[in-house]
Amino acid sequence: MTVNQEFFTLNNGKKMPAVAIIGTGTRWFKQEETDKTFNNDLVEQISKGLTLPGIVHIDAAEIYRTYPEVGKALRENKKPRDEIFITDKYSTSLKITENPIVGLETSLKKLDLEYVDLYLLHSPFITVEKYGISLEQAWKDMETLYKQCKAKNIGVSNFAIEDLERILKVCEIKPQVNQIEFNAFLQNQTPGIFKFCQSHDIRLEAYSPLSPLQKKPDNYESDPFYIYVADIAKKYGKTDAQILLRWVTKRGVVAVTTSSKFSRVQDAQNLFTFDLTQEEVDRITELGLAHPAQRLYWNDVYDKYNSESQKQ
Ligand SMILES: NC(=O)c1ccc[n+]([C@@H]2O[C@H](COP(=O)([O-])OP(=O)(O)OC[C@H]3O[C@@H](n4cnc5c(N)ncnc54)[C@H](OP(=O)(O)O)[C@@H]3O)[C@@H](O)[C@H]2O)c1
Repeated sequence: MTVNQEFFTLNNGKKMPAVAIIGTGTRWFKQEETDKTFNNDLVEQISKGLTLPGIVHIDAAEIYRTYPEVGKALRENKKPRDEIFITDKYSTSLKITENPIVGLETSLKKLDLEYVDLYLLHSPFITVEKYGISLEQAWKDMETLYKQCKAKNIGVSNFAIEDLERILKVCEIKPQVNQIEFNAFLQNQTPGIFKFCQSHDIRLEAYSPLSPLQKKPDNYESDPFYIYVADIAKKYGKTDAQILLRWVTKRGVVAVTTSSKFSRVQDAQNLFTFDLTQEEVDRITELGLAHPAQRLYWNDVYDKYNSESQKQ
């Protein structure tokens, strides 16, 4: 069985799969990484995901506390390493390990891996007071990991323009990726971030691409956005979720999704069996922008931008 996959080329010439089908945060997130909290359902979901044809993209992070499950699934699977794309993130809201170098070395041990495909700073909120290192020093650590080939690509997450500018001023290696909350109901996590990343050749990655389905308004059945997405889904014989994921990738953004239902994981891996026309992409963009901003994460720091988040 073959799969039609799409890949995005990063600013270092390497390619990454346009969809991550198993995010191991959000619904899988845990407060503690102990035997008692070990989640067999997550192991099963990843293991089944790894039986799918093509390159399987998994999104992990230090703060999710799910390395034991990811590690177990990886150890037990037979998929060649070069058919797995793993993203990992250094925790920046809670200091779990000393610095990104120690962070990645620790996760590589837990996951039994020699490298990850993409390593991200989870947010820009690293201060000398809290971490003993500045954001700029943290980026230098990321560059060291890149040069050591422990991270094939490096990037950031939840960075606003001013955070990226601090990195761009000191970097030797530019971030390849900025993973942000992005969907039809939140088209700029922070002001101007979409255009800034596109014009600086920093690939955007969208977490919570299905926010409009996760949280629907009471009147959604009469809402033009939902009516249109359902019509397009019917036209192509796809699910509403596949239409919204495809819209994300048509905007040039990698989609990071997850599900407790294997059929939805399969649907995400089989996303590229249809295409949206430019007119359909533009219409979803437009109808999404007509909605108030819907922000699910990092509300304490970014809610102040809600009135600017639904601008192109
Ligand atoms: N960098 C960051 O700060 C950050 C923040 C948040 C997330 N992330 C990463 O991104 C990953 C994905 O985030 P996400 O979970 O918000 O992604 P998402 O793709 O927007 O949402 C996935 C959720 O949507 C539900 N869903 C799927 N299809 C649906 C439908 N038709 N109707 C209603 N609900 C539907 C799924 O529920 P079922 O389980 O029922 O299918 C699943 O729980 C995370 O796991 C994590 O790896 C990163």
